[in-house]
Amino acid sequence: MPEARETAVYTHGHHESVLRSHTWRTAANSAAYLLGALEPHMRILDIGCGPGTITADLAGLVPDGHVTGLDREPGILERARAVAGERELTNVDFAVGDVHALDFPDDTFCVVHAHQVLQHVGDPVRALREMKRVTKPGGFVAVRDSDYAAMTWYPPSPGLDDWLELYRRVARANGGEPDAGRRLKSWALAAGLTDVTATSATWTFSAPGERAWWSGLWADRTVASVYADRAVEGGHATREQLRAVAGAWREWGGREDGWFSVLHGEILCRKEA
Ligand SMILES: C[S@@+](CC[C@H](N)C(=O)[O-])C[C@H]1O[C@@H](n2cnc3c(N)ncnc32)[C@H](O)[C@@H]1O
Repeated sequence: MPEARETAVYTHGHHESVLRSHTWRTAANSAAYLLGALEPHMRILDIGCGPGTITADLAGLVPDGHVTGLDREPGILERARAVAGERELTNVDFAVGDVHALDFPDDTFCVVHAHQVLQHVGDPVRALREMKRVTKPGGFVAVRDSDYAAMTWYPPSPGLDDWLELYRRVARANGGEPDAGRRLKSWALAAGLTDVTATSATWTFSAPGERAWWSGLWADRTVASVYADRAVEGGHATREQLRAVAGAWREWGGREDGWFSVLHGEILCRKEA
């Protein structure tokens, strides 16, 4: 395997409060912009697959093809293998790797996909160059990332303003770019991709169950994940400030009129044939 090149720290880690969000994800709610390009025989690489629920959905959509899920963290791949096993998928495998230095020959995959990954990496343009390199001519590089500065909610909450400001500061200190969604097209062009279709899409959390889930996972993540430790160790917040932010999340979650929107940038790039 090529030497790993990652310089960033993965901001969230894989605490249970983080996986609560990741395992909710499906190809339908997180990769709709890509689905029209898929064909049953395709070979797909899903980079930063995490616990693999999107990976498993993609495998179901290419029954005559194959999906490889790749992540830099070996531990999370056990979880992804279990998800694939529960669904009795036979066309999926998993590998440890770094998006900056992929251990695959040129022109290997029909689709190279990454969901909520490039915001966490040290060099997203280099990552996209690697993704392009391992994509077959005529194939697709498909990327989707949220854009924290564009997230918006109601009712106004000074505590959630603090959350957003703190999250963006910690993510940048970890070497990532939390406002990645708006930058994807620019990164793709810098990486030499020329046929780039850029779109956006949102997740909305407002119904009682959605508010309870979204606010609960952020409240827990704020006090009990790698993110919390990095915030404190980096001098960005005290434990008491983190508890106040978690309280603001719970308060927002209890508001009947609560509404939260997560904007994502998306790029579907065709590699020249
Ligand atoms: C926010 S999670 C997204 C997981 C999954 N794609 C999803 O949307 O549910 C980001 C994942 O990218 C992985 N990751 C971070 N940096 C990486 C790198 N340089 N190469 C490969 N994977 C990386 C992390 O370990 C983590 O599992």
